[in-house]
Amino acid sequence: MTAIESTLVKLSVDFDVQKIRKDFPVLAQKAYGKPLIYFDNAATSQKPQVVIDALVKYYSEYNANIHRGVHYLSGKASQAYDDVRKKVHEFIGSKVEQEIIFTRGTTEAINLIASSWGRKNIFEGDEIIISTMEHHSNIVPWQLLCEEKKAKLKVIPINDVGELLLDEFEKLISPKTKFIAIVHTSNSLGTINPVKKIISIAHKHNIPVLVDAAQAMAHEKINVMDLDCDFLAFSGHKMLGPTGVGVLYGKLSLLEAMPPYQGGGEMISSVSFEKTTYNEVPYKFEAGTPNVADVIAFGAAIDYWNTLDRKAIAEYEHELMSYASEKLKTIPGVRLIGTAKEKTSVVSFVIDELNTLDVGMYLDTLGVAVRTGHHCTEPVMSWFKIPGTIRVSFLFYNTKEEIDVMIDGVKKAAAFLKK
Ligand code: ALA
Repeated sequence: MTAIESTLVKLSVDFDVQKIRKDFPVLAQKAYGKPLIYFDNAATSQKPQVVIDALVKYYSEYNANIHRGVHYLSGKASQAYDDVRKKVHEFIGSKVEQEIIFTRGTTEAINLIASSWGRKNIFEGDEIIISTMEHHSNIVPWQLLCEEKKAKLKVIPINDVGELLLDEFEKLISPKTKFIAIVHTSNSLGTINPVKKIISIAHKHNIPVLVDAAQAMAHEKINVMDLDCDFLAFSGHKMLGPTGVGVLYGKLSLLEAMPPYQGGGEMISSVSFEKTTYNEVPYKFEAGTPNVADVIAFGAAIDYWNTLDRKAIAEYEHELMSYASEKLKTIPGVRLIGTAKEKTSVVSFVIDELNTLDVGMYLDTLGVAVRTGHHCTEPVMSWFKIPGTIRVSFLFYNTKEEIDVMIDGVKKAAAFLKK
């Protein structure tokens, strides 16, 4: 037994992965007659039964529009929806629950800030800083804003292992820098960025910071007051919740000073053809009928997180990541992309001469679900001079045995596809 294997065995005593797996019905199935191995958790996580039950219960017992009806069902649905705002507020440690805005996901949360805060505060010649490892959803909204306002986008470079160059970051800051948008944890490299340090440097220059925490939330307990970020965006579906719901956290004073993002019902205080006045935060930013069902089911996901031992999970996932990385490195022709010191359970790699899509499709025939391609981070791929990677991403319900199947598959793919 290798050192890594023995650590895993020890960990499995503290962390009962087989028991956890029973909470996730999708994991019990077969793909093409083989046990399904789900290693595409960075794209979306699987859902525990309690989340699925919450959705079914809402639709079968108290489906109603919220904050509008005087009737029994509407009251019940409104209460359940409002309760989730409180749960999220407690989960991320915001100062007050009005700082929690429900969106469709991380993408919409970032677009909300670029459109609302950005339009009001960015002017010709201003500069916005992002990094090389941003997801497209934390690049394109800023490009659109910069184009509209004739502002400039500056990009923090990375090193060979996929870490931000902090010295270069400091050099990019100028009196014209008005905003910084930075990813907490890279979806394609797995790098965990020193966001707290970045925020503290930015604040010395009075620059607000948005943190894209889409990949971080499922792997790390985030506390917004501790980070002192000005805005934080994340998605429910990557952290055991349903698709179509996300969160924008913002410091209350900043949110209150921002104009509305979309116009419609709920976000108004009064409407006339002469003048419309707006509702208070957070409703000012939640135009239209909200995604009641998914928000409520997201609340069930947060309840579920609160039952888990986050420290044990983080250690377990780190072991899975280390185990997979060490095994992959021993396969001739395999090159890991993204080997930062601080990493989450994402392993990206390429195999000499092989097309990543071919490898992904081959692994799929073995029941192993991975993602291939640029992972919506084309600038990262350009930096590494590759078209894409094969990405395996783990969550706490994955096992070392599943990794062994994947490793065997990669070995076979390398032999089979090179023929
Ligand atoms: N952003 C998601 C991923 O990394 C979809 O796969």
